[in-house]
Amino acid sequence: MNLFKTIGIHQRLLIAAVVLISASTFTLGYFGLGMINRFVALRFEQRIDYMAANLAINAELGILIGEKELLKGLAISLLNEKDIAAVEIENSVGKILVKEAGNLSAPFETVEKPVVLSETENLNPGLNPGGKFSGERQEIGLVRIQYTREGINDLLQAMKLRFVVAAMVLAGIFCAIFFFISRSLVSPVISLAGVAKKVSNGDISVRAISGSIPETRKLAHAFNEMLDSIEDGRKALISAHEKMARQEALAEVGKFSMMIAHEVKNPLAIMKSSLEMLKEDFAIPDDNLFVNYAEEEVVRLNDLIESFLIFSRPDKPNFALTDLNALVEQVVAGFEIQYASDKRKLITSIPSEPCFAEADSDRFSRALSNVIRNALEAGPDMGKVFISVKISETDWRVCVRDQGPGIDPDTADRIFEPFYTMKAKGTGLGLVFADQVVKAHAGKISAGNSEDGGASFCITIPVAAKTEPET
Ligand SMILES: Nc1ncnc2c1ncn2[C@@H]1O[C@H](COP(=O)(O)OP(=O)(O)OP(=O)(O)O)[C@@H](O)[C@H]1O
Ligand SMILES: [Mg+2]
Repeated sequence: MNLFKTIGIHQRLLIAAVVLISASTFTLGYFGLGMINRFVALRFEQRIDYMAANLAINAELGILIGEKELLKGLAISLLNEKDIAAVEIENSVGKILVKEAGNLSAPFETVEKPVVLSETENLNPGLNPGGKFSGERQEIGLVRIQYTREGINDLLQAMKLRFVVAAMVLAGIFCAIFFFISRSLVSPVISLAGVAKKVSNGDISVRAISGSIPETRKLAHAFNEMLDSIEDGRKALISAHEKMARQEALAEVGKFSMMIAHEVKNPLAIMKSSLEMLKEDFAIPDDNLFVNYAEEEVVRLNDLIESFLIFSRPDKPNFALTDLNALVEQVVAGFEIQYASDKRKLITSIPSEPCFAEADSDRFSRALSNVIRNALEAGPDMGKVFISVKISETDWRVCVRDQGPGIDPDTADRIFEPFYTMKAKGTGLGLVFADQVVKAHAGKISAGNSEDGGASFCITIPVAAKTEPET
């Protein structure tokens, strides 16, 4: 029972084929050869019988006239026939008139035929007075033929041999056909089992090879589809898990940073007013490098905390109908002053006519500034930043393109995450803030790489139906 369970489909099919072929060959051989044997033996006996009858007819005249030479001729010609070993012709009293034998070897069988007078009415009763051949059917002699079955047995033996050889060749061919059929059935199943094993070992990237049979192809296809969906599910799960872990970490960092920011804001305000008082008390000139440096750093720290607080606890934007084109010009002008001594250039393409939209000009300027600052920082020392504005029926769109290295595709989906930064002094809040502000304006911000290299950030804002400010 256990042994039977270990036999695979391949072996089972082969065993079935061998049993089937052997059974059908044996049945066919047994009945077929038996019938042929009987048929051939019957025909053989009929042939011998016919020859004996023929000899009896031909010998009639020779016996009647006592012509032994004639009878000898008949006997010799019959001996030439295949399987005939000896021929004897007797007269009515049993005297052997002719006896001729060939050189065939025993065992022999014998057939006898009486020589009957053609005329049923005996015209000359004296010819056979009181002989054993008398009565209505007058027998005047007897022919006896000895024959051998050796030839016919050899023929039947040869036929049997041929049949066995033909059956074996056919069985071999059928087995080979069965082997290939069963292999084409079994090999996809074996490969599928191999793939399933690899999957269970954790390699989800493997796929089943579709076999040459439609059913096995379907099976492999369905299996691969199942693996695809498992792989997709697993990827989605991993990414969801990563996102969750990141968000949890961010929430923790956020809480902690909020606390720090809150605690740092007051001391910073004290430091700022103390610096001013110091300047007054000690009559420090406005261009004192160290005091200015300290003041700048205090302001920078304050800005940083401000933007962080805005990001963490965004206030309601203060919307007003604003000329967005003028706003971009203003932001660019600010940068031009800031970067006056630098070799970096801002190249603008802004329509001269105004384009109004409901906007919080302060926040929007800061959002745009973050994008432009990133572009200036990403580009080379003498790089250019192209700022272009396009207006359609429904949208106002500003694009900022730089000549930097572009956005790394591996991290592209992280640049809008809070605290994600690749810069030593960066906070990773610039784009988050920009995104928050643009979304508050029912707009969209998108990032990509331009064809000439460098990154390209575009902000799209829906424009107001009327293009003139209310008076
Ligand atoms: N124009 C750009 N080209 C290439 N990478 C950019 C570009 N703009 C932003 N990035 C990538 O996105 C990251 C996040 O930008 P984001 O403005 O949010 O923070 P930051 O610039 O690193 O810090 P901060 O804005 O506080 O100075 C950057 O560190 C940088 O890796
Ligand atoms: Mg930035």
